[in-house]
Amino acid sequence: MSTATLPSHVPPELAVRLPYYAREIVKDCPQETLIPEMHRTLGPITYVTNIFPGDKPGWLLTGYDDTMAMLRDADNYTKNGMGQWSQSIGENWLVVPTEVDPPMHTHYRKALNPSFSPQKMAAMKDDLRRRATDLIDKFKDRKECDFINEFSERYPIYIVLDLLGLPQDRMAEFLIWEKDMLHSNDWEVRSAAVRQTVAYLKEEIALRRATPLDDYLTRLFDHEAEDGRKWNDEEVLGHCFNLFLGGLDTVTTMLGNIFMHLARYPEQQRELREHPDRIVLAVEEFLRVYGPVTAFRIAARELEIHGQKIMPGEYVSVATPVINQDPKMHDSPSQVRFDRKAAHVALGGGIHKCLGMHLARFEMQTALEELLKAIPQFRLKDGFEPSYFVGNITFVPKLELQWD
Ligand code: HEM
Repeated sequence: MSTATLPSHVPPELAVRLPYYAREIVKDCPQETLIPEMHRTLGPITYVTNIFPGDKPGWLLTGYDDTMAMLRDADNYTKNGMGQWSQSIGENWLVVPTEVDPPMHTHYRKALNPSFSPQKMAAMKDDLRRRATDLIDKFKDRKECDFINEFSERYPIYIVLDLLGLPQDRMAEFLIWEKDMLHSNDWEVRSAAVRQTVAYLKEEIALRRATPLDDYLTRLFDHEAEDGRKWNDEEVLGHCFNLFLGGLDTVTTMLGNIFMHLARYPEQQRELREHPDRIVLAVEEFLRVYGPVTAFRIAARELEIHGQKIMPGEYVSVATPVINQDPKMHDSPSQVRFDRKAAHVALGGGIHKCLGMHLARFEMQTALEELLKAIPQFRLKDGFEPSYFVGNITFVPKLELQWD
């Protein structure tokens, strides 16, 4: 976007194209380079011309407090239909609950929260452990692995399918659909994957309407919306779709980021091996530094932040990787320190805070426990060059590990 095409309320000196949102591969760890640089060089609010997928513009907030204030303000900001998922295939259901505003959002979360309570998720721990060890057993004696391909992509798919009550036999297709939906910059590829995922989910929903099963998906039919009416098929579909969107890529990404870190910082890997009781706090610190998501809100009316006018319909970021390194909140923010106990927003905040946060934590803790138990001190495979994908989800595209 050139200065000439900037909207008239955007001062040219506030407009930049940021390398962090370039959607490309970089060689240096972005959490240690690009993010600290953003804090050194940008003010609290910046108009970033490439912040939204498809190289669309939006406002970047770099401060923790400013972002939390926005997350708590559901009157001035909306999320309605913002992902354009169903619209991209010519349909018009909403992703439930992530694309919905109050008061409907409140009804949906009231129905859903009990199924994702810490107690309910703790009951899945044996399943998580079994899924993790099944995958680890396939490579542990080989003394090397392609971590993303052999572990971190597959593990969360198993878990979400188990959670919903869906069979595992289409894992290979899910892997392709998920990557195309979330990582492709080509809208046709993305829409084709959305269409296939939705067709599959509709089939499974119809099967359960015909013959109810004892599973999470069937139980969604009993959820009540605003006036006690039961959820319709579009709401059930919108929610299943949300679990695919929210529950797969994020966990894959976090595990890739965590294991890249442990391979690069052998002392910290050793610390967790010797003190597995530190894994719970370590996961929080990994979330703070490596939480990957930049989400958005849409301004519902004309607003002002730090004296800058925001027009209705404009996107404002919830840039969790950036905010989590707010230097006003932490000293040496890009350093991972397992004893920090620092606040972070990696799982969101306010009414849309991650529905799957307890599951996500258990998934990461269990993966760490089982991998550190099953394989000895690991390192980057000889000759393997680390690289990182920067964008709205920041991840490690490949991670080859080896051990003796
Ligand atoms: C480490 C892994 C995860 C991370 C970093 C993460 C991050 C987030 C973030 C930042 C949000 C808020 C987005 C916003 O405010 O616009 C969110 C919402 C959500 N997440 Fe997660 N998530 C993770 C795992 C999961 C899992 C495992 C599930 C379910 C299986 C899940 C389901 C959801 C849902 C349904 C929402 C929407 C909640 C709402 O709008 O009320 N997430 N997540």
